[in-house]
Amino acid sequence: MSPAKPKAGKRAAASRFKQLRGQLAHHNQRYYVDDDPEISDTDYDDLLRELREIEDANPELQTPDSPTQRVGGRPLERFPQVTHAEPMLSLGNARDADELRAWAERVENRLKRFDISAREIRYVTEPKIDGLAISLTYEDGVMVRGATRGDGRIGEDVTQNLRTIKEIPLEIEEAPKMVEVRGEIYLPLADFARLNEQRAAAGEPTFANPRNSAAGSIRQLDPKMAASRPLSMWTYGIGARSGWEPASHSEILEWLRKRGFRVNPDVAQLAGVEEVEQRCLWWQDRRDELDFEIDGVVVKVDDRGLQRELGVAGREPRWAVAWKFPPTTATTTLNDVVWNVGRTGRMLPFAILEPVQVGGVTVSTATLHNEEDLERKDVRKGDEVVVMRAGDVIPQVVSPIIQRRRKGLRKPKPPKKCPVCETPTVKPGDGVWTICPNRTGCPGQVFQHVKHFRGAMDIEGLGEKNAARFLGEGLISDAADIYDLDAARIEKLDGFGATSAQALISEIERSKSQPFARVLYGLGIPGVGFVNAESLAEHFGSIDALLAAQPAEIEEAEGIGPILAEQIVEELSEERARELIERLRRAGLRLELDESERRTEGGPLEGKTIVLTGSLPELTREEATRMIKRAGGKVSSSVSRNTDHVVAGDSPGSKLAKAEELGVAVLDEAGLRKLAG
Ligand code: IVH
Repeated sequence: MSPAKPKAGKRAAASRFKQLRGQLAHHNQRYYVDDDPEISDTDYDDLLRELREIEDANPELQTPDSPTQRVGGRPLERFPQVTHAEPMLSLGNARDADELRAWAERVENRLKRFDISAREIRYVTEPKIDGLAISLTYEDGVMVRGATRGDGRIGEDVTQNLRTIKEIPLEIEEAPKMVEVRGEIYLPLADFARLNEQRAAAGEPTFANPRNSAAGSIRQLDPKMAASRPLSMWTYGIGARSGWEPASHSEILEWLRKRGFRVNPDVAQLAGVEEVEQRCLWWQDRRDELDFEIDGVVVKVDDRGLQRELGVAGREPRWAVAWKFPPTTATTTLNDVVWNVGRTGRMLPFAILEPVQVGGVTVSTATLHNEEDLERKDVRKGDEVVVMRAGDVIPQVVSPIIQRRRKGLRKPKPPKKCPVCETPTVKPGDGVWTICPNRTGCPGQVFQHVKHFRGAMDIEGLGEKNAARFLGEGLISDAADIYDLDAARIEKLDGFGATSAQALISEIERSKSQPFARVLYGLGIPGVGFVNAESLAEHFGSIDALLAAQPAEIEEAEGIGPILAEQIVEELSEERARELIERLRRAGLRLELDESERRTEGGPLEGKTIVLTGSLPELTREEATRMIKRAGGKVSSSVSRNTDHVVAGDSPGSKLAKAEELGVAVLDEAGLRKLAG
């Protein structure tokens, strides 16, 4: 090889390198920030691979902000400390409207000397994300450091882990020489559920809440671990910066948006405390619909000049306050720990509590989740415990209050015999679960599975009580028997008549058209919750393809790890599971994806995101969804800047208002039909 060649090669590599960096930055922005990718994942991966190859051959080209650096480097032994250039403050609380008004009054009084009337003070309201506060430092537009909040002054340097979060721009344009960007890292709820599902299936401890899982993930010493967690970030402010004095908080948010940071689209600028209060209540109502957790609303005075005048008291700025949602936790005494058997035979502990009011409801029992969780939390009979109740979910014991523990309290142990069928329990291998090995004969397990199955198939009228009754009367002995029930027999039971029996049979008939993912979920495979079931259904398309798959192939489905993949194969190879599947098949349940559920490539709605709101004149929501998917589109539940169309029917609600606010095109049913071809 002549000496000139490598040089020419180098030049070509450098030029291609530059091109690739530009392209990848563009596609990252389209994908992660605009939510509107232009190329397929495979094409993106090809570009990334090519860049990696060039960097491997020419290490001098690689810089810390390269897209190749997002997937983790060397594990660290501990995190170095970082002093924030400007401290990260905390927030005072307002627990209700009175406290919010009192805060606003203090703000107004302090500002009176500037002749500013209350009406003129503008506020910005933002969701208070329940995650982990982070500060990102950019120098000359390049992210050089990312740190946790720590004590507000000194945090931990978690740069490597933050680089793995694809929504954090590694490079920004038109940046001051130095700027600290502040925001919150969080794990979306669906990913949290999936992560816990996988951890439970792998016998690993589960996370108590999304906040802990985000904090745990960002403080992983091995960036590859952090990279494997789908963390996300909302930004809401800046810290120190050189040569830039924004006039308002809104200006900062706009600046962040323009540089590709995620800023929540529902952040609003408002005049007067009444509007602020309305907005706080609006967030409170929407709380359960979001795909991330919020624990309140942050209210900030918009004008930076006024912020400066108001100043900081201790560690809390006077110009901001956190409206906290009503508490969903309470403390009470744990009177007893009792055990039940789960649908896969696991012994499941639950708490008998001294009755206590939580979120407006009296709670006297709560779940302790499972054996491993009980052990990890170290909850003991007689402890004072924190109980939490949120939305419609079952109340749960969060933790004991160790400081108040009396001497001599003992750890509860799983029972030696199954509490339902009295079969001696076993703890297989080095597993963490004590189980009842009587998988098909234990009425407790059968009942739990039937209950799970009817939930999965959404069979109304087959509630817990009726399920227990049918099992008790011998009308059914497993989930598949539901499809052999006949009206004549049900009718004879006390409390049923011809009409109610027929209604139940129709409900059961109707459930046969539930999509494949629901049936798969209903099988009750350990570790396969609804999220994983959907992923498996999408990936394999039919039960037969899944039954024929090796663990390595199952691992290719989104969100399925190696241990869970093994477990799925093991479970599905059991005679019991095969028989159940065959009986469900004979009953006419859907064991493959319907063509209409598959997204069509190259359809007229390819790459378009559509939101449905209100009731349409002819199409049901499900039919409209199918129509959109068939045309290649994606249906989303909330309106954002990335929404292409909102299809509005009668009583459309806030999504329509949002679409109008953001200038998203609004269609009616006829418009949708036209677009979908
Ligand atoms: S501003 C100027 N905005 O709440 C005050 N904080 O209690 C600095 N948080 O440590 C924070 N969402 O972790 C601000 N939209 C938001 C927030 C937010 C969540 C967290 C943040 C902070 C804590 C303060």
